[in-house]
Amino acid sequence: MSDIVFHLNGETVRIGDEPPTRTFLDWLRERRGLTGTKEGCNEGDCGACTVMVSDANGARALNACILFLPQLHGKAVRTVEGIAGPNGALHPVQDAMITHHGSQCGFCTPGFVVSMATAHRNGATDFDDQLAGNLCRCTGYAPIIRAAEAAADAPVPDWMADDLADLQGLDAPGVALPQTVEELADWYHANPDATLIGGATDVGLWVTKGLRDLEPIAFLGACRDLQNITVTDDDIQIGAGVTITDLGALIAAYHPDFAAMIRRYGSVQVRNAATIGGNIANGSPIGDGPPALIALGATLHLRMGKAQRAIPLEDFFIEYGQQDRQPGEFVEAVSLPRQPDNLKCYKLSKRFDQDISAVCGCFNVVITDGTVTAARIAFGGMAGTPKRAANVERALIGRAWTQDTINAAADEFANDYTPLSDMRASADYRMNAAKGMLHRYFAEHTGHQTRVQEVQA
Ligand SMILES: Cc1cc2nc3c(=O)[nH]c(=O)nc-3n(C[C@H](O)[C@H](O)[C@H](O)COP(=O)(O)OP(=O)(O)OC[C@H]3O[C@@H](n4cnc5c(N)ncnc54)[C@H](O)[C@@H]3O)c2cc1C
Ligand code: FES
Ligand code: FES
Repeated sequence: MSDIVFHLNGETVRIGDEPPTRTFLDWLRERRGLTGTKEGCNEGDCGACTVMVSDANGARALNACILFLPQLHGKAVRTVEGIAGPNGALHPVQDAMITHHGSQCGFCTPGFVVSMATAHRNGATDFDDQLAGNLCRCTGYAPIIRAAEAAADAPVPDWMADDLADLQGLDAPGVALPQTVEELADWYHANPDATLIGGATDVGLWVTKGLRDLEPIAFLGACRDLQNITVTDDDIQIGAGVTITDLGALIAAYHPDFAAMIRRYGSVQVRNAATIGGNIANGSPIGDGPPALIALGATLHLRMGKAQRAIPLEDFFIEYGQQDRQPGEFVEAVSLPRQPDNLKCYKLSKRFDQDISAVCGCFNVVITDGTVTAARIAFGGMAGTPKRAANVERALIGRAWTQDTINAAADEFANDYTPLSDMRASADYRMNAAKGMLHRYFAEHTGHQTRVQEVQA
């Protein structure tokens, strides 16, 4: 049985005796004594535990509290202890945090510093976005953003370069870390009761909050061919292991409004870990991926052993907690037909950043010579599953694209959905919000500016 091997702040670490669901945060603090990385929420929401993880694809910020040790195999990690130089020289972002008074109680500061150092290393300067996953309760964000801006032009210190050469060609560790889709398919077919782990942004909480025992487990992160993206004249095929960050970067060229909505999906840390396969397979009624994908007419590709099948994505969601997936069957990919872009995505949540949708409505309506010739409308947060608004669509297709048609179609939402009241929104609010979104789509389509960015720094 091989060990889990990775670099930690430039030093090679081998781990052979930890359970596969030991979180990196627990290991760092309790086994390694590296307590600079903080535990705030232990569920991916606050960024106090942010670490920098690098591999052949570059460096990304991740939340250590919902990151399991096997997910680090073959990678290089920097914690806050590894951001300053070996001789104690401060990293430019650390220096700037001091100069700009970016820290008071300091609890959030290690997480901010690691997020800032990762953004700095990647040349990213959209700091409202880069730091949206880091919460500060006492300093306030303005000094922190000023510090990030002040450090932006400083060169990346030499010591931040992580040499991954000795991590190439490692054996898989003694947990299931399939290297190809083929291997995954065979293993899962033989272990149909196992738990698959993509980015662990849902599963991580089953462990940290639910205290669940998940074994046997297969981690999907090493299956490079599950992360393939193929674009042809006919369709865009997206592997289940593609992260939400990479999906956002891809889809911006085809459906920019989908990419804009993805900017509000979790935080940088969450999007860097979360996969589109996990977002679909979890069957959540409030996941942000499925409504947009359904509105675009997505096909879901499932696989069990050698057997593959493809179904319309909307048919995957049978009812709350029940999906069309057999034991041993996994999501291999999702594909979208190429089409002119008519997609608009409206996400309503209590916070602008880093919040789950109360209602997410996605509209894809084709108008030819003033008449609606096709309509695909799908919502999250309006039913026990992501669901199409079939009656609204029927009330639009074949009709003139006018306010009267919109008014009549909006009434049909009551025949499509019976939303619930919960802590995110009341049933009434949800129903009215859905109708409002149809009116908004019409208004935008007819040239009215409707975008009010409620929260802008
Ligand atoms: C702080 C925070 C904020 C979040 N914000 C949002 C948000 O704004 N919008 C949103 O939609 N979601 C959000 N989420 C939820 C979560 O990020 C998504 O559902 C995510 O896409 C899940 O992907 P994953 O790869 O992390 O899945 P995992 O946690 O690894 O797995 C989720 C489920 O899918 C299964 N699974 C994973 N991959 C496959 C596969 N290929 N085939 C079959 N089964 C599979 C797992 O077994 C598990 O049942 C948030 C989560 C956190 C912690
Ligand atoms: S401890 Fe809050 S995100 Fe990890
Ligand atoms: S400095 Fe206290 S929480 Fe940010």
